[in-house]
Amino acid sequence: MSPFIKNAWYVACFSQELSNQPLARTLLGQRVVLFRTASGAPAALEDRCCHRMAPLSRGEVEPDGIRCGYHGMKFAPTGQCIEIPGQTQIDARMCVQDYLVHEQHGFVWIWLGDRAQASVSAIVDCHWHTDSQWQSTQGYIHYRANYQLIVDNLLDFSHLTFVHKTTLANNAFPNAQPAIEPFDQGIRLTREIRDAQPSPLHQMAGKFEGRVNFWNRQAWWLPSVFENWAGSVEASTPGPAHEQPGAFLLRHFSLLTPETEHTTHYFWIQPCQFPRPDDTLIGKVKKGIDTAFEEDRQMIEAQQQNIHDNPEAPMRGIAADKALNMIRMMIKRRLQHEAEALNP
Ligand code: FES
Ligand SMILES: [Fe+2]
Repeated sequence: MSPFIKNAWYVACFSQELSNQPLARTLLGQRVVLFRTASGAPAALEDRCCHRMAPLSRGEVEPDGIRCGYHGMKFAPTGQCIEIPGQTQIDARMCVQDYLVHEQHGFVWIWLGDRAQASVSAIVDCHWHTDSQWQSTQGYIHYRANYQLIVDNLLDFSHLTFVHKTTLANNAFPNAQPAIEPFDQGIRLTREIRDAQPSPLHQMAGKFEGRVNFWNRQAWWLPSVFENWAGSVEASTPGPAHEQPGAFLLRHFSLLTPETEHTTHYFWIQPCQFPRPDDTLIGKVKKGIDTAFEEDRQMIEAQQQNIHDNPEAPMRGIAADKALNMIRMMIKRRLQHEAEALNP
């Protein structure tokens, strides 16, 4: 059974990463080469020439395709070979696998599964990232860990108090378990904390002098996109916190693409709206998130090493694991479903 859900859109790269230079990236254990054609459209092919298996990413992009850097065969974005130096006949079997790609809201998404099931309407809406009403920042982390450990981390905010003391810590989190509700593509989590000390990041971004009301409305979109709509507003503000003007707002997305069973591409974006904006705030937000996510990376990679060294050791559950256990069950069911469809 594949360790990965195949019938899903995953982020292959940020839009800015893609040009007329080949980009080699391993996604769900498959070597892929990505590039832009002359029209600017993204293309993705198996990164393995059908002649002698050279990586196409060592070749050159031309207006109508990519030319292998070994013996010069050229492949169209459809994967079909369109030129063989010194030969006029081209057999239809001279081709490499092509993959569906779709560019949207600053990302190039890829579909590596059954094409008949692909619909771009299933791509998670991240439009805030390219909306001029929001100031956005972004980052990428390469993880030496299975993506499910990162899923666990993002679905359990009780760790903020202990891992992120200088950035995201909020002492109220361990006692503020979210309401959790499944929907057809994952789960939603809702949390509201009133009259609490803001986290260092929210205090800086909102320029708050005292206590705040804080909320988040999160969604986990199967298999691997985490959405966090969150904000803080001064605690003296009456009514539901998330409906108030004067709040610091963020629309964070963490988008995980397994590279291999033991490594993960982690993309994130964070569009923000600041109640008292100035030109320095978005840079400070990026710095805070880079610091916090590095704290996560160090913890999760150390955890992965322990699991690797002791694969049979059981994990004992606690109440805070509820959401991550739900998603682990949903992922397991999707994997079984995909395996059964392949071997009915
Ligand atoms: S290996 Fe690609 S053309 Fe020979
Ligand atoms: Fe974290």
